[in-house]
Amino acid sequence: MGRRATITGWGTYLPDRVLTNHDLEHMVETSDEWIVARTGIRERRLAAPTETTTAMAAAAARQALATAGLGPDQLDLVIVATVTPDTLMPSTASLLQAELGASRAGAFDLAAACSGFVYALAVGAQFIAAGTAQTVLVVGVDALTRWVDFSDRSTCVLFGDGAGAVVLQATTADEGILSTVLGSDGTGAWSLYIDGFRELLSANGATPPKRPYMRMKGSEVFRFSVRVLGEAALEAIQQAGLQPQDIDLFIPHQANLRIIDAAAKRLGLPMEKVWVNIDRYGNTSAASVPICLAEAADAGALKPGMNVVLVAFGAGLAWAASVVRWGWQGVPGREAG
Ligand code: COA
Repeated sequence: MGRRATITGWGTYLPDRVLTNHDLEHMVETSDEWIVARTGIRERRLAAPTETTTAMAAAAARQALATAGLGPDQLDLVIVATVTPDTLMPSTASLLQAELGASRAGAFDLAAACSGFVYALAVGAQFIAAGTAQTVLVVGVDALTRWVDFSDRSTCVLFGDGAGAVVLQATTADEGILSTVLGSDGTGAWSLYIDGFRELLSANGATPPKRPYMRMKGSEVFRFSVRVLGEAALEAIQQAGLQPQDIDLFIPHQANLRIIDAAAKRLGLPMEKVWVNIDRYGNTSAASVPICLAEAADAGALKPGMNVVLVAFGAGLAWAASVVRWGWQGVPGREAG
């Protein structure tokens, strides 16, 4: 058995403030019935000003380190997947490294929007497989509600804020990250993007004409997502030398329940094998997959030897998938979650 990365710690952070569909009914012309029927979302979390991207990442990371039974000084690398950093310079990963006291670690951000965590997991796993790192912290964190136009009903109902983190460690056991698939189609870049950046930069110190906000061509992104979610998952399953029926738990990016349903059907997976929390958190971008993974681990839904598919898609357009064989058996004196 070669050297692989395996998940030994996990954690999450969700802001306290809940924004329900009924709250949104007072903000835009929409209804709880429409949002539930078209997306599966009932409520989402909103980061307060003090709940910065770095603070949310740090809370999830501390939990992940505690689950792994590791101290921050044991980390070789900190990778933060985010498209909503607190500032463009320095990186959120550097701010997080300082916050945690991960003094030995290299640190960088990775921008692949909603696919960011699965991309970052692939990168961290490669560092470990290559022998250049023993222990890597991978965080998916986003506060997309800071970029949402709350007068645009076609986007503001979809997104929420949060963070999820995992610790990767080297193993030679038959477990860990078995395969990774990364993809991108930049010809679809302007289907989901932040508008107004060019104007902001060309204002040259003058007051920019408008504040940048997220824009989306919903039905284009929907068609892309339905196709790519199933395809990327299948590719990762095949690359791991497995069949869809070998998959014990399917953890898709939580963007729309109808997209998840379609992918599960395509893979022939019953919904009991699909982790869904979109009703409570909406689309938390890079945080969505690691939040699901941590919830599943805390709920005892992951047993050693289980094959888990992680798959995500989003702005880029980009997508990523990975098959993970769960290895964590618990260690005396060390509690999950
Ligand atoms: N409440 C009520 N009506 C709404 C609405 C809302 N929040 N948002 C849009 N509508 C309206 C539209 O204006 C449109 O009205 P019209 O026919 O009068 O123009 C109607 O609902 C249907 O819009 P349509 O875009 O066809 O709906 P849909 O079934 O495609 O659902 C999305 C819209 C956004 C839910 C869906 O396209 C989607 O989920 N796309 C993917 C988004 C995504 O996952 N993005 C992130 C990727 S990481």
